[in-house]
Amino acid sequence: MSDQSKSQFESGHQPRVQHQDVPGSQAKLDPQPQSENIPTEDGGYQIYKAAGKLADKRAIITGGDSGIGRAIAILFAMEGADSFIVYLPEEEEDAQETKRRVEKYGRKCHLMSTDLKDRKNCKAVVDSAVKAMGGIDILINNAAYQMMVDDIKDLSEDQWIHTFDTNIHPYFYMAKYTLPHLSRGSTIINNASINAYIGRPDLLDYTSTKGAIVSFTRGLSNQYIGRGIRVNAVAPGPVWTPLIPATMTDEALKNFTAPMGRPAQPSEIATCFVFLASTDSSAISGQTLHPNGGVVVNG
Ligand SMILES: NC(=O)c1ccc[n+]([C@@H]2O[C@H](COP(=O)([O-])OP(=O)(O)OC[C@H]3O[C@@H](n4cnc5c(N)ncnc54)[C@H](O)[C@@H]3O)[C@@H](O)[C@H]2O)c1
Repeated sequence: MSDQSKSQFESGHQPRVQHQDVPGSQAKLDPQPQSENIPTEDGGYQIYKAAGKLADKRAIITGGDSGIGRAIAILFAMEGADSFIVYLPEEEEDAQETKRRVEKYGRKCHLMSTDLKDRKNCKAVVDSAVKAMGGIDILINNAAYQMMVDDIKDLSEDQWIHTFDTNIHPYFYMAKYTLPHLSRGSTIINNASINAYIGRPDLLDYTSTKGAIVSFTRGLSNQYIGRGIRVNAVAPGPVWTPLIPATMTDEALKNFTAPMGRPAQPSEIATCFVFLASTDSSAISGQTLHPNGGVVVNG
């Protein structure tokens, strides 16, 4: 049954223009994004229907405090998995809320705030996750940074390095340190972006890292598929999360939509992660799913 009492975006098809400081807080977002409710055609929602697809699995989720990462943690919990979520120290409030909502579904949610730009911290995450959960079955590389700059002449070298240090190097570190703990049937899923496919001009550094993530996914899959470990990516279009009001201009927020007529909710992206983490996708590796609201892209 659809719950029509909650309109997806009260004032139309887009959220109203609002701004936050980086890294952004989900608690301050208006309207609140949907983590476990799936939008329906009539503008309402229905709760995600779980089917025990990830019973007793153990997942690391970077950027799991908010947005898409939170929705993944909650849907994974509904499907029977525990999670170990990683986030920046200033996001403790959002992380506690994710933990509360995961526990509501009877699963564990371990918390660790750390800066993944430092490879030592990535190693510490893996060691702590193994200790807390007794092992790892799923790695979700999801943390990211972006900031709009229209022209390469105004894009600072420091921002370029910071974006690569945040968006792609930790994906490599996390995969490298996690793989020795994975076994046949384990999965790695990397969050990319539609921008890798459409070449978004005002997010040049971010777009470049997302292209690197797609290629990293393909190469790593080719290394490990023979050993029964699948590696895939998801390339979302616009999704209503704290990253958006923390990093986008008024103009970009006004146009923050997709061919389907609205941005996606985090829950609609998290379903792709459930699929790729479960045996429903047992023959899929090295691929990218495109929950982007209807933009036809190649690859
Ligand atoms: N929101 C969108 O429209 C959209 C579209 C395409 C792809 N994505 C991707 O989705 C993923 C999740 O983003 P989101 O939109 O849910 O936003 P979000 O702000 O909720 O999540 C981003 C997370 O990255 C984490 N993070 C950033 N820098 C970090 C660091 N140095 N160390 C540790 N953690 C760090 C933060 O904790 C934050 O929770 C990102 O990879 C993003 O590129 C988002």
